[in-house]
Amino acid sequence: MERLLLTKKKTIRVNEDTWIVLFEERIDFSPGQFVMLETPKLVRKPFVLGYWEDHTAISVQVKGKGTKWIVEEAEKIKGHGPLGNGFEKPGKGLLIISPTCLTMAEALRKKMNVDVLVGSRTPFQIPLEHETAVGDEEFLRKLSSTGEYDWYLVSGSRGMEKVCWEHLRGKEVYFSLEEYMGCGIGACKSCAVFTKEGVKHVCTDGPIFRGDELCWS
Ligand code: FES
Repeated sequence: MERLLLTKKKTIRVNEDTWIVLFEERIDFSPGQFVMLETPKLVRKPFVLGYWEDHTAISVQVKGKGTKWIVEEAEKIKGHGPLGNGFEKPGKGLLIISPTCLTMAEALRKKMNVDVLVGSRTPFQIPLEHETAVGDEEFLRKLSSTGEYDWYLVSGSRGMEKVCWEHLRGKEVYFSLEEYMGCGIGACKSCAVFTKEGVKHVCTDGPIFRGDELCWS
């Protein structure tokens, strides 16, 4: 893990509330790992690492002042990382993601054999080379009509995770969890999740877990 000072290169709007933020600096990371970035209030937020236009990049959903600052005002952003564990799988996989994981999808595509389905609540504002679905109805239809894959990796809202788990139960399904994180290094315990082997922490044990390892109730 390193201390980082990232220089924002540009932002690209993906849909109503999500942007891709590209950085000048390259970070050496494994797909699945994340960074904790500081905002002016010193609140650190986790972002999964990825690529866009051959630059290190993150996807940011603007939810409040911190994320708005990252997208609209920040020039240099402090943080630390990469954190968490990378993910590598043989065989052909399907990534099922929200727009906030598009950059992670690019990182996984560089290393693994994957197709990508992106589900968004609002229309896309840039063309994407992936399969896309706008709205719940279209997402469910496309999810139900996907072919067979060796494994599946889901990253999105809790609602999206639950829908995918219902549809894909019995298959080899992984989830990249997006719990609230305070420290990113296993110290604050804010990212605890219940698993069949007891409490685990998304920042140090994850962020990617097998679906049948998690407690879903
Ligand atoms: S974020 Fe602090 S323990 Fe995981």
